[in-house]
Amino acid sequence: MTASTVPALRPLTLGQHQVWPPVVLAPMAGITNVGFRRLCREQGGGIYVCEMITTRALVERNPKTLRMIAFGDDENPRSLQLYGTDPEITAAAVRIVVERNLADHIDLNFGCPVPKVTRRGGGAALPWRRRLFARLVRAAVAAAAPSGVPVTVKMRKGIDDDHLTYVEAGLAAQEAGVAAVALHGRTASQRYSGTADWDAIATLKQALDVPVLGNGDIWEADDALRMVAHTGVDGVVIGRGCLGRPWLFADLEATFNGRLERRLPTLGEVAATMRRHAELLVDQFTAGARSPARGERDGCTDFRKHVAWYLKGFPVGGELRRSLAMIESLAQLDDLLGKLDPAEPFPVTALGQPRGRTNSPGKVSLPEGWLASRDDDTVPEGAEMDDSGG
Ligand SMILES: Cc1cc2nc3c(=O)[nH]c(=O)nc-3n(C[C@H](O)[C@H](O)[C@H](O)COP(=O)(O)O)c2cc1C
Repeated sequence: MTASTVPALRPLTLGQHQVWPPVVLAPMAGITNVGFRRLCREQGGGIYVCEMITTRALVERNPKTLRMIAFGDDENPRSLQLYGTDPEITAAAVRIVVERNLADHIDLNFGCPVPKVTRRGGGAALPWRRRLFARLVRAAVAAAAPSGVPVTVKMRKGIDDDHLTYVEAGLAAQEAGVAAVALHGRTASQRYSGTADWDAIATLKQALDVPVLGNGDIWEADDALRMVAHTGVDGVVIGRGCLGRPWLFADLEATFNGRLERRLPTLGEVAATMRRHAELLVDQFTAGARSPARGERDGCTDFRKHVAWYLKGFPVGGELRRSLAMIESLAQLDDLLGKLDPAEPFPVTALGQPRGRTNSPGKVSLPEGWLASRDDDTVPEGAEMDDSGG
């Protein structure tokens, strides 16, 4: 796609917020904490959603959950994702968020395909129960309304190809008063396999008046433009594509501003980004730690999962990779990063390739009788996890 074919886009409007470029960092449990979000925000504009917070854990003031609701001083808007299955608990959680001024935007998670969640009727299973879904979204919107904090929903296409819900759920969410709807173009049964169905995203865009955000398989900035051209969406949601590549947000900003430059960092530049990422995680973990040494260790432990993503495609030996994935201090990280060849060019073979989760499809675990009773709006039992982070 050339600069002349860049689709005309406006800033994404979410309630009173105008977001440019219309780019959203997808909430990713265990990943999109305050440190990672700052790293990404340093690259480009957009909206950066925090890790998923469970409504029950928030209402019960779970200490780990309260610590997870952390934002940088300059984060604007502060974007929080909630997971809930009970309209009353969700409304109570939203009230806590708005009354304590904890966030400026609330997203509701209806996309989680994890068996322990769907088996109890939560996440991607919930929109099938259309009355419960509508009640839950209405409750959240009503609780947020006095503060003006916009509520959005994020969902999948449905449970599987025979049980699609996205158009009906999108219309119900719009009717309930959400500010936007994000669609990951996969069913729950696909999990992260195959390719995202951008035609479904186009169908939803056609069906709704509120902004629609497209999600799934944006690996490069040009993919974002292709998605916009293909679907007409108002914004794009980036998940796995930025794992080990936070500079994708710089490329996206350039792209949406009609510029063609793309980052291909050398291994030395990647190492500097890794160091910055680890440092931000150490800062984050030190803020809530009993001692600075403990904060540094926890920050480094959290960083380990990112190592393989940063080094994907680079010729780096197994032993060095393994040592990097076991670091306990920044000094150790510096020592190991010093062993990399800084002049090594970016491996273009790694471009456009899936990263992060790519698991195989499977039957969705659901509560007994779930599919047979779409209009039952009983709150499913035990589906409210009491811990956050997915
Ligand atoms: C590690 C990981 C954690 C995720 N956690 C969440 C979550 O907490 N809430 C959510 O709505 N989606 C979550 N997702 C799904 C992503 O937000 C996104 O919808 C999905 O990865 C598809 O987008 P992509 O193809 O750009 O990765 C997660 C995905 C991954 C890979």
